[in-house]
Amino acid sequence: MSQKSITILGIESSCDDTSAAVIKNAKIQSNIVANQEVHQSFGGVVPELASRAHQQNIVPVVNEALKIANISKDQLDAIAFTRGPGLMGSLLVGTSFAKSFALALDVPLIEVNHMQGHIMAHFIDEGQNLPIFPFLCLTVSGGHTQIVKVNSPFDLEVLGETIDDAAGEAFDKSAKILGLPYPGGPLIDRYAKQGNPKAFKFTKPKVAELSFSFSGLKSNIIQRIQREEKKEPNFIENNLVDLCASIQFTIVSILLEKIENAVKKTGITQIAIAGGVSANSELRDTLLKRKKSHRWEVYIPKFEYCTDNAAMIAIVGHYKYLNRDFSDSSITPKARFKI
Ligand code: KG4
Ligand code: ZN
Repeated sequence: MSQKSITILGIESSCDDTSAAVIKNAKIQSNIVANQEVHQSFGGVVPELASRAHQQNIVPVVNEALKIANISKDQLDAIAFTRGPGLMGSLLVGTSFAKSFALALDVPLIEVNHMQGHIMAHFIDEGQNLPIFPFLCLTVSGGHTQIVKVNSPFDLEVLGETIDDAAGEAFDKSAKILGLPYPGGPLIDRYAKQGNPKAFKFTKPKVAELSFSFSGLKSNIIQRIQREEKKEPNFIENNLVDLCASIQFTIVSILLEKIENAVKKTGITQIAIAGGVSANSELRDTLLKRKKSHRWEVYIPKFEYCTDNAAMIAIVGHYKYLNRDFSDSSITPKARFKI
């Protein structure tokens, strides 16, 4: 019996990226992301500006995704959208658009948890080795830092998470202290390549074995800089690359320590990373070294599936479609939404 092909439109609008993607039989046909540059000078995402930009971008972004995928809207089997977690005003734009589009096309509507999307991005079919269940996933983004035991696409168990800031926030707030624009994570990554990771020592938090904490690091960096600036007014400027390398080294060491703790606790050696911070080159390189030295099986997403994108929402949509797990048209977004 020939199987019907499944084509899903995914929509992501949880924070400051408006994205639409078309996926056919788990293979990406298009993945359009419109970044919002309006937040750069504010040192963080301004929710009110984000929802307005989503309103402007959503229709052109969806049209572009359909055009690149070379399909018409009548060929879509379902609309998958991010229900949360995220900024309420931003989520409302994607949710309202998805509902209206599904209603107009008379196709099912599928809600997706954004964090599940980050993890499931590993299942976008590009001919790579897929993680084998159960695997551990370090999910590190601007809003979340978790170690998740993934038993199946729909059975996700959070083993530990941050008690304060997320890893992405640690990067972005450190960058802000150094006078770098938002989002500072990719810039720290870039400057760190020329710096000495051992030049400055920052304290690591003392928290439970699978919990994370990054707020102390921020205070530690501020205090250190204030002290040094008393002696050397251009301290940041003169030491920028070493500061970036040392900050990145500290954050990545914390993340790696927690993965090691989770491996010890569960005995699972299938390790995946997901979320915006999984684009970090030191995290990726260190994990690949561990693959050899610790004999872990390591899964690292392609760059375009690390930061927010709709392809990851569409792949969850694909799996939910197979399960006929559809949402009612009265559904509302959830700013806080656990996996
Ligand atoms: O997953 P994401 O795009 O959005 C959220 O769901 O939060 O993650 C964004 C976060 C930001 O904090 C950004 O600075 C960080 O990911 N990020 C990085 C890198 N690329 C993005 N952090 C460190 N190194 C990178 N190369
Ligand atoms: Zn995200």
